Amino acid sequence: MDHFRLRSLPLAVRLAIVCVCGVLGIGLSASLQHMRWHYEKRDERAGFTLDDVRGAYHGMRSISPLRQALERGHPPAMPLADRDALLDWLLGKKDAAGNRPKEGNPKLSTDFDNLDLGERAPAEIMRANCLSCHGRGATDPIAKTYPLEFWDDVKAISFSREINPTDPKKLAISIHAHALSLGTMLVVIAGLFWCTGWPRRLVGWVTFLAAAGLLADFAGQLASRAWEPGIYLIVAGGALGNGLMALMLVGISADVLRPAKTPSA
Ligand code: HEC
Repeated sequence: MDHFRLRSLPLAVRLAIVCVCGVLGIGLSASLQHMRWHYEKRDERAGFTLDDVRGAYHGMRSISPLRQALERGHPPAMPLADRDALLDWLLGKKDAAGNRPKEGNPKLSTDFDNLDLGERAPAEIMRANCLSCHGRGATDPIAKTYPLEFWDDVKAISFSREINPTDPKKLAISIHAHALSLGTMLVVIAGLFWCTGWPRRLVGWVTFLAAAGLLADFAGQLASRAWEPGIYLIVAGGALGNGLMALMLVGISADVLRPAKTPSA
């Protein structure tokens, strides 16, 4: 044996190492959960997606789901005149040159069920074209999860917004805490991992990839504000760095718990 092995330590110390690995593992999974909860609404839509990362680190324009649905021709069965009427209401009527007003329709909410519009009121058009699927009592299992019966329902999917990236001062607070703690944590985990019986080459490359992942993550966080592709560095680097640290914790625990080889005669 050319290097120090954790397995040569007394049982109590090895058990302590397993406990510490458990603590760090719990910490990593709590960070993952915290990250999802913290960012999932960044793009103003439910669920944690790439757009949440984009919104938080680069900023983006979130186009309202209602506009997206209408413009992509959903639902296909809706008469063209009704689709145009809804888009005119949502985005403001086109002028003679075919351009919609920059400020959109300032009377979005009052026009929604404007009695003067009668059958042409957006609420009536949607009742006729949407509620068979998007009603609370509808049978379509997916569509009924986006009910469109009341203004509050429709309002939630009607607005497009600018999403600004996190303030640079807040980003600095986050990076100074996380870069220093994760960097130091990796040194500790990699040091323990080195003192296991796992093949040297494997230990070396896993350690290198974890370190490169963390570096990519933090470099991406700094670069993304000005350079949008940086968000892929954040996601890929973060997943690689944190994922490999978790794997190393498992590898360390497995190594110190392995039953000792009976010395060969
Ligand atoms: C025949 C059933 C049906 C009708 C009618 C229908 N929808 Fe949908 N809608 C669906 C289904 C199913 C989904 C979920 C799958 C999808 O996104 O295509 C959906 C999804 C949506 C979404 C969310 C999709 C996204 O891009 O996030 C919006 C917004 C929407 N519909 C708006 C409308 C509006 C407005 C109308 C009426 C003008 C309408 N739908 C009529 C079935 C319907």
